[in-house]
Amino acid sequence: MSPSLTRAIHLRTEYQVQPLGLGAPPRFFWLIDDARPGARQSAYRVRAAASVEQLQSPDVWGSGRVESDAQAQIEFAGKPLVSRQRVWWDVQLWDAAGVAGPVSEPSSFEMGLLDRADWQGQFVGSPLEGTGQVGAPSPLLRKAFELKSPVASARLYVTALGLYEASINGRRVGSDVFRPGWTDYDKRLNYQTYDVTAHVNQGRNVIGAMLGDGWYCGRIGALDRAACWGKRPSFLAQLEITMVDGSVVRVVTDDSWRWHNGPVLNSDLIHGEEYDARLQVAGWDTAACDDRDWHAVVVQPIPAVILEPSPAPPVRALSEIKPVTDPRKIGDGSMREAYVYDFGQNLTGVLRLRVRGAAGCTLVIRHAEVLKPDGTLDTSNLRSARVIDHYTLRGDPDGETYTPHFTFHGFRYAQISFGGMWSSTAEPKLVLDRDSATAVVLATDTPDTGSFDCDHALLNQLYSNIRWGMRGNFIEVPTDCPQRDERLGWTGDTQVFASTAAVNAEVAGFYTKWMRDLADAQCDNGAVPAVIPKHAKVWDWEGEAGWSDATVVVPWATYQAYGDLRVLTESYPAMKRWISYLTDTAREGIRVHAEHKGHQGFGDWLALDGPGGSDPARTATPKTFIATAHYAEALRIIANVATALGHTSDAKTYADQRETVVAAFNRAFVTPDGKLTAPSQTGHLLALAFDLLPESKRPAVVDQLVQLIQERDWHLTTGFLGTPLLCSVLARFGRADVAYRLVLQETYPSWLYPVTLGATTMWERWNSWHPKTGFVDISMNSLNHYAYGAVGKWIHASIGGIDFDPADPAYRRVLVRPIPGKGINRASASLQTLRGRIVTSWQLHDSTFNLVVHLPANMTGMVSLPDGTEHTVHAGKHEFTCDSDT
Ligand code: BGC
Repeated sequence: MSPSLTRAIHLRTEYQVQPLGLGAPPRFFWLIDDARPGARQSAYRVRAAASVEQLQSPDVWGSGRVESDAQAQIEFAGKPLVSRQRVWWDVQLWDAAGVAGPVSEPSSFEMGLLDRADWQGQFVGSPLEGTGQVGAPSPLLRKAFELKSPVASARLYVTALGLYEASINGRRVGSDVFRPGWTDYDKRLNYQTYDVTAHVNQGRNVIGAMLGDGWYCGRIGALDRAACWGKRPSFLAQLEITMVDGSVVRVVTDDSWRWHNGPVLNSDLIHGEEYDARLQVAGWDTAACDDRDWHAVVVQPIPAVILEPSPAPPVRALSEIKPVTDPRKIGDGSMREAYVYDFGQNLTGVLRLRVRGAAGCTLVIRHAEVLKPDGTLDTSNLRSARVIDHYTLRGDPDGETYTPHFTFHGFRYAQISFGGMWSSTAEPKLVLDRDSATAVVLATDTPDTGSFDCDHALLNQLYSNIRWGMRGNFIEVPTDCPQRDERLGWTGDTQVFASTAAVNAEVAGFYTKWMRDLADAQCDNGAVPAVIPKHAKVWDWEGEAGWSDATVVVPWATYQAYGDLRVLTESYPAMKRWISYLTDTAREGIRVHAEHKGHQGFGDWLALDGPGGSDPARTATPKTFIATAHYAEALRIIANVATALGHTSDAKTYADQRETVVAAFNRAFVTPDGKLTAPSQTGHLLALAFDLLPESKRPAVVDQLVQLIQERDWHLTTGFLGTPLLCSVLARFGRADVAYRLVLQETYPSWLYPVTLGATTMWERWNSWHPKTGFVDISMNSLNHYAYGAVGKWIHASIGGIDFDPADPAYRRVLVRPIPGKGINRASASLQTLRGRIVTSWQLHDSTFNLVVHLPANMTGMVSLPDGTEHTVHAGKHEFTCDSDT
């Protein structure tokens, strides 16, 4: 093929490669293979057909030649698609000169079950119910069936109330975990679709499933088990097998299924799992197993909730980590003997054991983020979460492996000890060494997109901590922390982090799903709860400034990074209702006024400038100030959303309303001589970041902000709401020097202080822990809380130099504006966008600044150099040199 031709590669549908089980007409995405400098797509043509052969004269849809440089979010616009419909598609591109390239390789997608009537089965399970404290054993479910002829293809449509692991003929279906995921099960339930053609065959087959409590009937936060949605798990499956002769055999969950106790004695996402390998039922999910002593299942109808596929990628085991040293033996060889493993990285996941020993020997696996000075685990910050797994060996002479099924933990260290009556003298054969334990990292499988590196080792570690903090908390929903008895979808944490998340990974699907959860949780009066998904019992506060504003911030951040109009369209009704709530509860433009009856908000949570005391919400920035500033910002965002969606009259209404709120803000919180009534860094940051002040008053407020920072000897004092704004506001108003000073500050309080103490994730508090004194406060203290990692976007955009143009989002036009500063002489960054990969790299030698930028095909950029010059660039490699002192 001629290298001078433009060609679409890496075709994706709904952000996925050849997805199955879509729930709505899809959108198409591709990358462009065209290495010519300035390469650009001038037009495209998509063809969609029922088979690859048919693509020549597409019978499903043809876009025709479309004069456009769009290569993402291309809406399928053919006839309505039906359940199970498989569609092949390809795309041809025209280059800048209008020359057609070769047609791409074909790709495909397949629709799921679009109508409730497509589901023929019922939910099945065992009658076992646990107590408020301990779950019941996980039932094994199975159904044997006969296929009389050869199989052409097979699909499994499947979900559960609770968690399931499905298998067919002894082979696990899918590599994802914690399926079907977490939603408000009273309103919405996600199902999955798997290609199981290779699992089934002519003759006798068995489909099986093991169920766990999960979010549906396990613990949520600190609530007792089964407090929210249900008391026991159940399973819904529809296996559809198309035979070579074209006939279809359906195997669905119904009263012919059987259940039996399995090896999981109980499981809980927060507490841990107890597994007795002696109770494994050999071949339980194969034809070899005789199920005559199994029991009849309990059957229940499909509840009247939305049953749909999730737009988010699943949770998967993303990597494995070996212990960094041999385990340390503690104890004296008696029953209290234990081995402590260090994985060198705080992470979210589970421990996989590989051991050999006598049947009946129980291993107790505890997890912790840090050790006490004596080398034992410090679990004091876990509150009521037990975070312990138990494994009882079956005594396999060849050794046995155990990976917990229905739980996860936040940990860097694990301690394995011996339960029951075991001791090393009694059971000398069981050796626990370095190979006995591996940490399995679990997270939602959002593809990595961004990278950053520079010549400052601590800053690189901070960047790594931000990424790990995100990984550890993107588990089905964006959570606050993965270790203690919380792990909830706190809205505030994720709204401050969303734009950083969109640099670290492709999070469009993840946030699209969570925004549906948010809409499900919205109250009748438009208020939005502080945690999503919500159940009436989970959290009864709602409408918090800077938390519930996730309603507008998260979809807008998603749109800016990916140009995803669908997430805006879907979220717009919730946004409008949220704004109505704000308007209804504000008084003359002021939100959370003294008489406001609802929750007053969490303030600048955990800021260090408060009047003292134990309330992390009482800080130097009054809640009314914070709430009114966020009210104005919510209006600005919704006005932008309305413009993007073409709702021009809404856009004007919201923009006008914002003016009123801004005026009220100025009346209430700005003195006649231009000073803010909030004597805090965060107060100044909010006013500047949200453009609440007249231009003329801003320089003085910037100076006051710098003075406040200087008064603290160049330290921050901000909490959850101020921190994300610090560096970007300072840099935007010409004080990148101060931003650098803060981000490279190593003494407390600062981003690098935890790094100097060996942190490998973001901490909840600026001083969460110290090696000598341990946790500063065990009542609320996590070492894996991503909120302060929101500085990641600024590091990537301003030190790394890669940012989108808000006027032309989704990196159609990239702003390359690296800002060098004292302390860093070299930095590089990259970002995989929907248009391809951007790479930047700069160096400072004396005062000479060198920059190299690579842009992918079909992207333009504006390079701004430290000497103040600007350069328009297109696809290809560009090098610049200037004097940084000018
Ligand atoms: C969570 C936070 C959350 C906060 C509300 C905490 O318990 O861990 O991250 O945002 O409560 O202020």
